[in-house]
Amino acid sequence: MTSLVSSTTGALAGTTALPGDKSISHRSLLLGALAVGETVVHGLLEGEDVLNTVEAIRKLGAQAERDEAGVWHIHGVGIGGLREPDQVIDYGNSGTGARLLLGVLAGHPITAFITGDASLCSRPMNRVAGPLSDFGARFVTREGGRLPLAVTGATDPMPITYRLPVASAQVKSAVLLAGLNAPGFTTVIEPEPTRDHTELMLRHFGAEIDISDGDDGAAHIRLTGQPELSGQRVVVPGDPSSAAFPAVAAAISAGSDITLMRIGMNPRRTGLFETLLEMGANIERLNERTEAGEPVADLRIRGGRLNGVEVPPERAPRMIDEYPVLAMAASVAAGDTVMRGVKELRVKESDRLAAVAQGLSACGVSVEEGEDYLIVHGNAGPAPGGGTVATDLDHRIAMSFLVLGAASEKSVTVDDAGPIDTSFPGFVDLMNGLGASIGAGNR
Ligand code: S3P
Repeated sequence: MTSLVSSTTGALAGTTALPGDKSISHRSLLLGALAVGETVVHGLLEGEDVLNTVEAIRKLGAQAERDEAGVWHIHGVGIGGLREPDQVIDYGNSGTGARLLLGVLAGHPITAFITGDASLCSRPMNRVAGPLSDFGARFVTREGGRLPLAVTGATDPMPITYRLPVASAQVKSAVLLAGLNAPGFTTVIEPEPTRDHTELMLRHFGAEIDISDGDDGAAHIRLTGQPELSGQRVVVPGDPSSAAFPAVAAAISAGSDITLMRIGMNPRRTGLFETLLEMGANIERLNERTEAGEPVADLRIRGGRLNGVEVPPERAPRMIDEYPVLAMAASVAAGDTVMRGVKELRVKESDRLAAVAQGLSACGVSVEEGEDYLIVHGNAGPAPGGGTVATDLDHRIAMSFLVLGAASEKSVTVDDAGPIDTSFPGFVDLMNGLGASIGAGNR
């Protein structure tokens, strides 16, 4: 394990681009593999999670070649054309990759074996195996629906209508991807809006998706099965969930002034920026535009004082990955920040409610943790710091606490920096380039 130490910095300054969006990168590869002809992806995230999807589609018979940094050419096999992989597919740390791929596999009459690292093998897969079984796919899993698992996809997939019991874009996407090879309509009923990259990209590749409001206020997302998907050009915006780390670091370091270029501004991803604005942060959206169907903007963030807020629970799906770094902003804010309705955080790469609460306590910040809430009592200034935080195989826990170190009296150590490469290769150099002070620990 490589530890990292983050020490107090002065103001952060500079302009930088961010790695590509992880959610969109996974989807571009999977749809590229299911399309006929060539898909060219620009700005693909070359983090470990997405590279595992590259390996997966290769094992399933698609071609994926790297041209230059971030530019990939995919040659797809067409819906129904995937071949049985002769090796186990190892998804490493990536829950999104594994769950989306299970959706794809459920509609192909082949058997595949999927595994992952200790974190992924502890995460619930029944949330996708359940609805995917309704298409006719069969699963053999470890106890509790955990990986490693074997899946045999349906020979004649039956379209389904499925109401999401949890607000999860992964589950929604897995069902829609399985529906691609089923005749007729597959419908997902979504009571709370979650990220819609799958719907946007399916349309971009030529599928018919119809979205209407049901009488119950839920969205009814209807896919027409067995479309012909054709290869496309995909431009991946910078990942707002990665931008969150330098953005919060700048917002909590007095005198900072940074600009983050080409960040995805899909409204279903921007909950953190809305919350930071409510806390009094100085964030401007510049050059708002649409690139390949996704809204993007340059974000200018200046440092200042923040106040605690109550985050509306219904905002959770639009910022689900950003609560850990929001908790860092909350630590230096004046007053309490209350985050409720966040029990999904317990089944992410780590139990993020527990990891954040333990890490903050180790850094002298007062925090209350409940089954589905977190309350951070802000310090109205730098956090005491001085703690060593357990990363728990969770990239966002590692990066969040390195951000806290930039605004703490004593430096903050994270015990394992390795997982950062799953989503944000180059994180340390990018942060230090803006003026942060993150270096090797002494293990
Ligand atoms: C993702 C959906 C979210 C999110 C994850 C990426 C996606 O997970 O936490 O990082 O790309 O669909 P859930 O669907 O479990 O909420």
